[in-house]
Amino acid sequence: MESPFKPDILKGKVALLTGGGSGIGFEISTQFGKHGASIAIMGRRKNVIDDAVSALRSLGIPAVGFEGDVRRREDAERVVEATVKHFGKLDILVNAAAGNFLVAAEDLSPNGFKTVLDIDSVGTFTMCHEALKYLKKGAPGRSSSTGGFILNISATLHYTASWYQIHVSAAKAAVDAMTRNLALEWGTDYDIRVNGIAPGPISDTTGLSKLLPQEINHNSRDKMPLYKVGEKWDIAMASVYLASYAGKYINGTTMPVDGGLWLSQPRH
Ligand code: HXC
Repeated sequence: MESPFKPDILKGKVALLTGGGSGIGFEISTQFGKHGASIAIMGRRKNVIDDAVSALRSLGIPAVGFEGDVRRREDAERVVEATVKHFGKLDILVNAAAGNFLVAAEDLSPNGFKTVLDIDSVGTFTMCHEALKYLKKGAPGRSSSTGGFILNISATLHYTASWYQIHVSAAKAAVDAMTRNLALEWGTDYDIRVNGIAPGPISDTTGLSKLLPQEINHNSRDKMPLYKVGEKWDIAMASVYLASYAGKYINGTTMPVDGGLWLSQPRH
């Protein structure tokens, strides 16, 4: 689908995306690239990263990939440094890496709970922490008046409660708290904006195909205000908007991009 935005609105920006080689993360990588950004992808699976980088380059997008796990601080530090070494600076960090599976709370081991918090919550903090020195105003390659931008991919699961996703709900609640706290501290001190996006059911993603079959069935009309599954493009367009100059006064918010689904209740 064609973008409604001008193709140069992210011109000259350098973006690092965790989980940027697949799913929603890859669509954000692609759209950021199509709007002028250079792209660094961090992920655990080398073949996924290699394929993603090739696909971006075939579109003429400057792209590089680095293997790494957001649960390891040394990986986070190495990938941030390698990105700045490759492109000369860092403007945008997108935390899209996530872990998930469906399991009843009573069957989830504490280590299973911890694993998802380590990826989604601690991983997001670790990446933000390591990227900070390059996102500050006045950092190498940056002006002395403008800081960078952080985008955290969240969820709407924890707005109410979600069956069999206590670990992800807790992890994304922590992510939203970090979005607000970092927006406050780093917006004040370094002119860095920090925002989130909470996707609803999005087609062709792990979240939809494996996790939410119950949401999308022939009884869904009463539960889905727009009665549509979203597309990765919808998340990417919201990301482009927030990352661009058009979003310069938006800080500390997590935008649900779910067609209004989280608001809905079955009709009585
Ligand atoms: C119960 C499970 C489990 C499952 C793992 N565990 N899978 N418990 N049911 N299906 C438990 C294990 O038993 C273990 O605990 C602990 O979790 C760690 O498991 P490992 O396999 O050692 O972990 P690891 O190899 O690091 O794998 C991480 C993972 C994995 C999260 C468990 O599934 C993963 O990376 N998945 C791919 C990522 C993914 O699905 N991305 C899409 C995210 S979509 P014990 O106690 O046995 O040691 C998304 C959308 C959210 O986030 C919103 C949806 C609407």
